[in-house]
Amino acid sequence: MRNPLAVAVALVFAAWSGAGAVEAAGTSADQGPPLWAWGFTSPDDGVRAAPPAPTPATATPPANPRQHKIPGSKFSFTQAQVSNRYAPADWFPEDHPVMPEIVAKGRESANPQIYACGLCHMPNGKGRPENANVTGLTYEYFMQQLKDFKNGKRTTSDKRKTNTDLMTGFAKAMTDAEMEIAARYFTSIPSTPWVKVIESATAPKTLARGGVFLTLTGPEAGTEPLGQRIIETPISAEDFEVLRHPRSGFIAYVPIGSVKKGETLVRTGGGKTTACTVCHGVDLKGLGPVPTLAGRSPSYLARQLYDMQHGNRTGAWSPLMAPVLSSLNNDDFLLISAYLASLEP
Ligand code: HEC
Ligand code: HEC
Repeated sequence: MRNPLAVAVALVFAAWSGAGAVEAAGTSADQGPPLWAWGFTSPDDGVRAAPPAPTPATATPPANPRQHKIPGSKFSFTQAQVSNRYAPADWFPEDHPVMPEIVAKGRESANPQIYACGLCHMPNGKGRPENANVTGLTYEYFMQQLKDFKNGKRTTSDKRKTNTDLMTGFAKAMTDAEMEIAARYFTSIPSTPWVKVIESATAPKTLARGGVFLTLTGPEAGTEPLGQRIIETPISAEDFEVLRHPRSGFIAYVPIGSVKKGETLVRTGGGKTTACTVCHGVDLKGLGPVPTLAGRSPSYLARQLYDMQHGNRTGAWSPLMAPVLSSLNNDDFLLISAYLASLEP
């Protein structure tokens, strides 16, 4: 372990892993939201971890806070700076256009307060499984989603996922100009690979925390049967949790054979539904304002499919998806998400 914080993280891992054996998650439509897509292992999992540590102006910083570094970045940040809600670390400014104020800092004076978009979606927009990759989208689509959040049309099927409520609050508090500026910024960034899909009968043992599965290290490390789940996990838990590393992506372990089966569903409808390519484009990278699906987080994709099917995402454009989803179930959502995530974005 390189530093005290990493040791603390490892201790928390150890404490949790003893208590939380992982069972197979819900697998069919009548079993509720697929737990894996929400980053839970059971319907009674503890409450979702609180969002990133707050940095109240009044807090007294430790005398000598540790400076974190990432190879290749000329910056160093303390933990408080890395996860500052109103100015999160930007390790590689050269990787993205100049961030406008709302993306880099949010607006603390708003009511409710608006965190920097870059805190959750990252300065480069690639996002994390528990929120959304906001690159590769069109301006029209992006704006429509902010309006849908604002109008309470985008919620989430597992109410333990409290960051969706935060997102709603930001959209309600944003001015039209802020929405336009944020939309212009993120939609100017093309999608690049961020998740690697691996078909496997097993997955690494993980700790479910904050809506994400973190791979256990040290004596707790090991593998377990994957079952009918997708386990999407950061390549490095420390890069993810401690550093918010913007170049360290994710691995998604998916059941053996799921990519091929998903391909059939997506490209032909598999006799159950409409081919997704009709609206999302032959390459599944979006068509007109219809969003891209290629290479995106499988957990995010599955949540959206389930949310739209269950009336928890009912935006202005969502009715187009309703007939597509009517005869699909959680197993189909898994196959579809495995295939879509495996595509080059
Ligand atoms: C606290 C974390 C957080 C912050 C900060 C945040 N978001 Fe989000 N955002 C989310 C979550 C969570 C979702 C939805 C995930 C889901 O539905 O599963 C989301 C979804 C979105 C989407 C929808 C993407 C899609 O493909 O449909 C857009 C657009 C978006 N956010 C824009 C923004 C903008 C602009 C800001 C800054 C003002 C921002 N977000 C700040 C958490 C956050
Ligand atoms: C008739 C056109 C149409 C077809 C066919 C279609 N979609 Fe969609 N899809 C849309 C539209 C429009 C949206 C945006 C919905 C909204 O804004 O709420 C969307 C949104 C989505 C989203 C959410 C993306 C995001 O960024 O949040 C996913 C996931 C999705 N579709 C998957 C699929 C899959 C999988 C199929 C095939 C089984 C499919 N779609 C077929 C039109 C379509």
